[in-house]
Amino acid sequence: MNPLRPVILAASASPRMKRVLTGTPITAEIVRRFVAGEGRDELIPVVRELLASRRLISVDFLGENTTDRAQADATVAEYLSLINDLAALNGATGTTARTEVSVKLSALGQALAPDGPAIATENLRILCAEAVRAGVWVTVDAEDHTTTDATLGTVCELRAEFPWLGAVLQAYLHRTEADCRELSGADSRIRLCKGAYREPHTVAYQRSAEVTDSYLRCLEILMGGDGYPMVATHDPVLILAAEQLVAETGRGPDYFEHQMLYGIRDVEQLRLAASNTMRVYVPYGGQWYGYLTRRLAERPANLTFFLRALVSKS
Ligand code: FDA
Repeated sequence: MNPLRPVILAASASPRMKRVLTGTPITAEIVRRFVAGEGRDELIPVVRELLASRRLISVDFLGENTTDRAQADATVAEYLSLINDLAALNGATGTTARTEVSVKLSALGQALAPDGPAIATENLRILCAEAVRAGVWVTVDAEDHTTTDATLGTVCELRAEFPWLGAVLQAYLHRTEADCRELSGADSRIRLCKGAYREPHTVAYQRSAEVTDSYLRCLEILMGGDGYPMVATHDPVLILAAEQLVAETGRGPDYFEHQMLYGIRDVEQLRLAASNTMRVYVPYGGQWYGYLTRRLAERPANLTFFLRALVSKS
């Protein structure tokens, strides 16, 4: 992990920092790099362009930490409309859905008292039922470690009805190797990422090399299993390791995916898309603050670029 990451993630939790970041016009330029737009009218042309370049997509309607039921219901309504819009773009698919939605259970009400996990599970069930009809996949994002048990509980419960439902695992968590073993069974779709939240050393590896090693161990388990690994990283070392494991295990290009975030390593995305399944995670919506600060924290150069722009315009 870069040494500034925890500092940036901690600072981003301050309401003052939020006011500064969201209140300046220059932020809009940075947001545009990582976020496809505020509404579906801006999102859909971006999705069309990505699909036309042989890349598949997973769309995230930005929002997290929903605090009231009405907000959770509004999120479900937006996802239902989104799934319908994506169905129209799906085209011929074979076994792999060209379009997918990524969902945070905290946006579906997971934190609501007293029965948040049950509310989120029911809301996700509604989305999955619509997704089946539309031929669109769903994958559940991973949030901070206090939610991991509840999130994987929801995924396991719904997989009985929707075996294609995907889940994200974070290699920086000590528990993830065991989770990979448990979830690498037939048809299980697992998106493996490094992890983007600020986590204590009691539950997560802190050093970059430790996270990379954990990712490699987890990837080996997933590639050796019977599921469908989704290799979500921009790290050249891990992409190369995935390519080697694919060759060793004899997986065809239809039995795993490379995945990257919208706005990051576009040329590499196109290279991978030429001979593999390559999916781009595309966020949209007005609630971009949490997403943006995680992207800034991953790469201090992004923050430097942002601060330089802020100073030069002020
Ligand atoms: P690393 O951070 O080491 O980056 C490797 C290289 O990629 C960098 O050297 C740079 O070139 C480029 N790069 C990476 N991040 C960049 C950035 N922000 N700006 C510019 N360049 C950048 N996390 C989570 O906790 N829960 C989740 O559900 C998800 N979901 C998810 C889906 C998908 C499809 C991806 C690709 C990632 C996630 N993540 C996530 C985020 C993930 O945990 C991680 O924080 C980022 O992917 C960055 O880690 P890398 O593996 O890319 O390595």
